[in-house]
Amino acid sequence: MMMNAVVLTQYGPPEMLRPQTIPRPTPKANHILVKVAATSVNYGDLVARNFRGVTPQEFNMPFLFWGLAKLAFGLRRPKVTILGSEFAGTVEAVGQAVTSFKPGDAVFGYLGQAMGAYAEYVCLPEDGCVMLKPDHLSFAEAAVIPYGAIIAMPLLGRANIQPGQKVLVNGASGAIGAAAVQIAKQLGAEVTGVGSGPRLPFIQALGADKVMDYTQTDFTQTGERYDLIFDVLGRSSFAQTQNILNPGGQHLYVSFKGKQLWQMMQSRRGSRRAVCALAPGSRADFLAAAPLIAAGKLRGIVAKQYPLAEAAAAHRHIESKQHQGQIALIVETHP
Ligand SMILES: NC(=O)c1ccc[n+]([C@@H]2O[C@H](COP(=O)([O-])OP(=O)(O)OC[C@H]3O[C@@H](n4cnc5c(N)ncnc54)[C@H](OP(=O)(O)O)[C@@H]3O)[C@@H](O)[C@H]2O)c1
Repeated sequence: MMMNAVVLTQYGPPEMLRPQTIPRPTPKANHILVKVAATSVNYGDLVARNFRGVTPQEFNMPFLFWGLAKLAFGLRRPKVTILGSEFAGTVEAVGQAVTSFKPGDAVFGYLGQAMGAYAEYVCLPEDGCVMLKPDHLSFAEAAVIPYGAIIAMPLLGRANIQPGQKVLVNGASGAIGAAAVQIAKQLGAEVTGVGSGPRLPFIQALGADKVMDYTQTDFTQTGERYDLIFDVLGRSSFAQTQNILNPGGQHLYVSFKGKQLWQMMQSRRGSRRAVCALAPGSRADFLAAAPLIAAGKLRGIVAKQYPLAEAAAAHRHIESKQHQGQIALIVETHP
């Protein structure tokens, strides 16, 4: 049986994403086959599409991670030819050993670096990052939640936020930052979201108490103090932020390199610390976000939808910084 997909034919610009008809996957005994209704365009998709052109300097993580990603994505030609790490859809079929899902269940989830959701169908183990989709979420809304939630949940968990504390999310308009704003609010924090102009209304809609445009304002110079600076791209430096952290405060680098690891080493016994942390991207972290998602406290806000076949246009839209929030791709059915 065949299905529609968007295939990355070679590394390069968005035009390398081409609609094709390819064989449909078959579920193994412990797998579910999901008919994808929506997927997303996130940071990982943009990087994986053109990884050959990403230098270690441009990569926001240590050199070793760049090397590992290079091996995983392919040196000269893409090994991951179907992008899309997030999906929402309906269980079409289950393997004979599957007990937790049945055909017809609406689900959403995360495929990690293996990707594959720019397609009409995906297969994944029933104990992968997948769960039932709450009825109040559309498929598009559900498809933009998992990645940010899976990364932000454990990182904010280790920051031990207390009600009333002040949290600044630097990079609040991206997937991880959007989840971090909402989770920090639910933990009782007063949240400042930092992004650039066109996406400030999106950060406000997420529930941030204050927003700041990093192209206009340097948050380290406003006189405000914070208990946690959650720095998605590692664009600010602990050298400056330690002066605006309250005692016991942390500058948590979600993206980091050797310099930030050194800052972590040096500040480990101080009352203000730099912390570089990795999220494992686990099922447990996804399930930990389930109560917030079910209660509508951790939402996906879709700024624009494209048909899957127009994935290239969606990538271009984000790369030209025209987007005003998260982008979903809606998957058409193969006739
Ligand atoms: N630690 C971990 O375990 C882990 C796991 C996964 C990913 N990561 C890292 O997370 C990063 C991707 O995060 P994401 O998916 O949320 O990315 P994203 O969706 O592309 O969002 C990036 C955010 O950073 C903001 N930004 C861009 N330039 C900035 C600047 N100069 N100063 C302040 N903010 C700026 C963007 O704002 P505007 O768009 O409004 O300009 C946006 O809010 C990557 O570096 C990746 O390596 C870490």
